[in-house]
Amino acid sequence: MLSYKIFFTMNFFQNFQSILLIIILLFSFVNCQNIPNPRYQQTSSLIGKRLYFFGGDLSTTDYNNDQAAYITNEVWYLDLSSSFNTATPPWNKDIGMPIGYNLGTSCVSPIDNSVFLVGGLMYIPNTATINFDSSPVYVFNSNISLWTTPNIIGFNSSFKMRNGIQPVIDNYGKIYAYSGSNSTYSNASIEVYDDMSILDTTSMAWSTLTKSSNTPPILLSYTATLLPTGIIVYIGGYKITIAGSFGILKSVSMYEIYTFNTKNYTWSTKVADGASIGSRVGHSAVLTQNGDIVIYGGTIWNDTTTVATPYIAKLDTSSWMWSIPNLSQRDSPQLCFHSAALYGDYMIIAFGQIPSMSSTSYSALSTNLYILDIKSYTWVASFNPNQSTANQSSPNKSSTNQLNNGLFIGIGIGAGIILMGVFSFVGFLLYKRQNQDPKSIQTPGTTDQI
Ligand SMILES: *[C@@H]1O[C@H](CO)[C@@H](O)[C@H](O)[C@H]1NC(C)=O
Ligand SMILES: *[C@@H]1O[C@H](CO)[C@@H](O)[C@H](O)[C@H]1NC(C)=O
Ligand SMILES: *[C@@H]1O[C@H](CO)[C@@H](O)[C@H](O)[C@H]1NC(C)=O
Ligand SMILES: *[C@@H]1O[C@H](CO)[C@@H](O)[C@H](O)[C@H]1NC(C)=O
Ligand SMILES: *[C@@H]1O[C@H](CO)[C@@H](O)[C@H](O)[C@H]1NC(C)=O
Repeated sequence: MLSYKIFFTMNFFQNFQSILLIIILLFSFVNCQNIPNPRYQQTSSLIGKRLYFFGGDLSTTDYNNDQAAYITNEVWYLDLSSSFNTATPPWNKDIGMPIGYNLGTSCVSPIDNSVFLVGGLMYIPNTATINFDSSPVYVFNSNISLWTTPNIIGFNSSFKMRNGIQPVIDNYGKIYAYSGSNSTYSNASIEVYDDMSILDTTSMAWSTLTKSSNTPPILLSYTATLLPTGIIVYIGGYKITIAGSFGILKSVSMYEIYTFNTKNYTWSTKVADGASIGSRVGHSAVLTQNGDIVIYGGTIWNDTTTVATPYIAKLDTSSWMWSIPNLSQRDSPQLCFHSAALYGDYMIIAFGQIPSMSSTSYSALSTNLYILDIKSYTWVASFNPNQSTANQSSPNKSSTNQLNNGLFIGIGIGAGIILMGVFSFVGFLLYKRQNQDPKSIQTPGTTDQI
């Protein structure tokens, strides 16, 4: 009897082990299903303790974005409320968007946390050929995972398909979107704009500020960062100056900083100084609590395989001086067209293209998460929510920092993302040139004509 009992026990134990193994395998399988595919051209936003990612391009070869099937409607988020290892991020998949979306921007309302998708390209999903959606703006309520299209009063139809821009939302719920093009990578003619489009999300009223004496040139593929003073800082990208009937395409110098004052709608140009910072597109920009803008990654303006140097830099927005942080050891990824968000002292970097592994016909894409502690400029392998929020300024609207916490940590997110829009735009111009479009396009840097 004893042996029987032992046999039974062992058998039970073995079965238990098998069941355990199956559970583990099932769990890993489910877990694998729950990891997003590599992508770029997505947009991202912090909503409370969740970092959301909307859409993006999944294709490594569809450089001209002419196949709708690769543009995803997926919504993923990272839960930042508990600790995790950067090798195994806590990914969650939310309900998909009604549209495939790339080259766009998500602005989170500081009033009710709703997310506005503004600009970018909105595709009717599950179609073999490209069909664009007719709604200019989508709104997401993350509490109930609901997407709606608002009724916009006085929408300016010239804003349709607008990309190469980075709209930002201010503390009062007004979204500002400067410049951009309507390129869809098709053979249709491309229009570029030097207007400032404003959507007041409290009244849903749309307005367009047209060019005035201090308006900067047409800018594409820049980053835009709102300072607590209500000044929007535009960094990098391309500029197009119109000479006669031609547009001349150049990269924007990192020492030429355009600013827009949201208090009185005036533009001014700051001349930056300091460390030597190469021009770039496809970079990201986040605002720190010290009023520094940290830019990360990007490539040179006419080659997606050549990284801009240095790949991290810091701009002091009171002295307009650039410096280069002394980054610790580790081979940090040199990404472009990625997402970057600041959560406390953690700069969270996700997705994007890896320029060094890409060619003109292949985009190496990343699905990894990297976290840089911007207090010490060290890469961290594990995320600790207490550490990341310990130094966060508490909501205090009466202080000189007029931004609430949620907005503060939200600023600058997704900065790198729309930028690919214009890079593709330039790629498209070069492509058109190769294909001998009747409109001649000359050598970049001299007289690119569009
Ligand atoms: C861009 O706008 C111009 C002028 O309205 C129009 O002719 C052209 O078809 C548009 N291009 C695309 C790709 O929609
Ligand atoms: C709409 O935008 C275009 C392009 O910037 C501009 O010329 C036009 O004046 C705007 N229309 C209105 C009603 O603001
Ligand atoms: C706009 O505000 C800025 C900063 O307060 C000020 O320097 C500038 O003179 C103002 N411009 C106009 C036209 O009022
Ligand atoms: C990119 O532009 C620079 C000038 O800004 C030029 O020297 C270089 O040859 C260009 N590279 C490519 C790949 O076209
Ligand atoms: C950068 O950090 C390294 C390693 O911590 C150190 O050896 C080096 O002196 C630092 N350089 C500067 C300019 O601070």
